[in-house]
Amino acid sequence: MTQSHPAGRHFLQIPGPTNVPDRVLRAIDNPTIDHRGPAFGRLGLEILANLRTIFQTSGPVVIYPASGTGAWEAALTNTLSPGDSVLMCRTGWFATLWNEMAQRLGLVPLLTDTDWRRGADVAAIATALADDRAYAIKAVCVVHNETSTGCTSRIDEVRKALDAARHPALLMVDTISSLASIDYRHDEWGVDVTVAGSQKGLMLPPGLSFNAISDKALRAAATARLPRSYWDWRPMLEANKTGYFPYTPGTNLLFGLDAAVKMLLEEGLPNVFARHDRHAETTRRAVRAWGLEVQCAEPRHYSSSLTAVRVPQGHSADALRATILEKYNMSLGNGLGILKDRVFRIGHLGDFGDLQLIGTLGGVEMGLRAQGIPHQPGGVQAAIDYLAGNA
Ligand SMILES: Cc1ncc(COP(=O)(O)O)c(C=O)c1O
Repeated sequence: MTQSHPAGRHFLQIPGPTNVPDRVLRAIDNPTIDHRGPAFGRLGLEILANLRTIFQTSGPVVIYPASGTGAWEAALTNTLSPGDSVLMCRTGWFATLWNEMAQRLGLVPLLTDTDWRRGADVAAIATALADDRAYAIKAVCVVHNETSTGCTSRIDEVRKALDAARHPALLMVDTISSLASIDYRHDEWGVDVTVAGSQKGLMLPPGLSFNAISDKALRAAATARLPRSYWDWRPMLEANKTGYFPYTPGTNLLFGLDAAVKMLLEEGLPNVFARHDRHAETTRRAVRAWGLEVQCAEPRHYSSSLTAVRVPQGHSADALRATILEKYNMSLGNGLGILKDRVFRIGHLGDFGDLQLIGTLGGVEMGLRAQGIPHQPGGVQAAIDYLAGNA
């Protein structure tokens, strides 16, 4: 038996990789150019300048042909030395993975934990910093938006905790699922290294990742002793001065990045953030109307780029997702780590509009019914009511 292709467009509503807009696809579709030729240098300079606006920084941003995990490694290896202590805020699955990487690299993590239902515990960070009179902690690492839980940490408050303790540790922040969808201010919040990836708010396919770097992080890089070669900022920053790279860049992804960044700047960052806030609020209203629970239990930490939804005890989130994929051709995010099979995650970030959201929520509501998950109807209606009243 041949399997027919499902009619209509696939709904890719995982919290990244996200849908790539046609304008970006068309840009990637151009012939690859000489990455040492004059046209490339001009493109490189323009992209690197525009990226600063996206990260809200006046300092350098470097681009790796790598997934976000590579940029995590770059952040740690450029600034730290073997045996250094790092304070890791374990807010979910991705923070756990970053912590494991730090251990493998020979760093010594101290941990603050949460119940995976809120952002980083700022009071616990403040206590750890106050207790560290010898300044053994060299970096505080926080995942801004924990993609496994749909909880966003308050980086401004973490900065205040560091300042109040007069602690010199570097502040490193993972914005892989928040950059260009949730307001994020590298300079204003005194972040030393911001880690980001291409495949979420930046509306690109996977394959590029980023470090935004403060002066303090650059000074740390001068004495850091962890081995680094591919990730070394120094040859990268030197080549970037003229728009070039020390090795072959992801040329066609950079064509896409140029287009994506221009789209974001044309929409205006405040509008981009407001759009994501509005879609997140709409989604939570639908979830409540169904009588289901949002994984994030702290309203100040609600994520605007995704919503993780808990399924009632005795029901399987993975079976629900499988039904929705099979019947309605939509992919939703799975539960990770301790949330495996307990939550499904709705991505509402990137190139995403009102009707896509209504379609997404329609697929979830039909899936809940098809799968026999106890719920009340009316989530989609609640979403329509909110969107129509808040155009
Ligand atoms: C918050 C966060 N950090 C890190 C990663 C890992 O990035 P990558 O899979 O691009 O290496 C992800 C991936 O989804 C993420 O969401």
